[in-house]
Amino acid sequence: MDAIVLLKDDHKTVERLFKKFEKAGDDAVKTKRKLVDQIIEELTAHTHIEERLFYPAAREAAPDTKDHILESIEEHHVVVWMLSELSGMDPADERFDAKVTVLMENVRHHVEEEEKEWFPEVRKAMGRKALQELGERMEAAKAEAPNDPLANPSARQ
Ligand SMILES: [Fe+2]
Ligand SMILES: [Fe+2]
Repeated sequence: MDAIVLLKDDHKTVERLFKKFEKAGDDAVKTKRKLVDQIIEELTAHTHIEERLFYPAAREAAPDTKDHILESIEEHHVVVWMLSELSGMDPADERFDAKVTVLMENVRHHVEEEEKEWFPEVRKAMGRKALQELGERMEAAKAEAPNDPLANPSARQ
C-alpha cells in the first residue's frame, strides 16, 4: 500500500467518526464515549506512524517540507495531549463535547494542510516505489502501535 494513500484512508476513517460524533445527541453519552475511544485509537496509531516513519522519510526526500513538518509535530503535540485528557474524561462532563469539538477543529485543519500543502511535494520527491515500500513498513508499524497517545515523540516536545 502506498504510504500517502494509507494516511489519507486513515484521515477518512477519522472524519467518519467525527461525523458520527456530531450526529450523536447531547444525551448519547455511551455512544459518544465509544466513538471517542475509537477516535483515540485511530489517531494514536496514525500519529505514531507519521512521527516514527512518514515524517522522517518525507523530510529526507523533500527537505523543503521541513517547516511544514515541524508545524505538524507541534499540532500533533496538542492533539495527543487532548486525546490523553479525553481518555480519562467522563462523557457526561459538561466540558467533554467542547473538548471533542476543539480536537476535531484541530485535526481537520491539520489534515487539510497535510493533504493540500505538503503531501503532494512528498509524493513528487519520493515516487511510487519508495512510497510503496514505506507504506508497507507503516502498515506493519500500525498493527503494533501503542495505544497510549502520550507514547508519541511529539508528546514530549
Ligand atoms: Fe499528522
Ligand atoms: Fe495525517
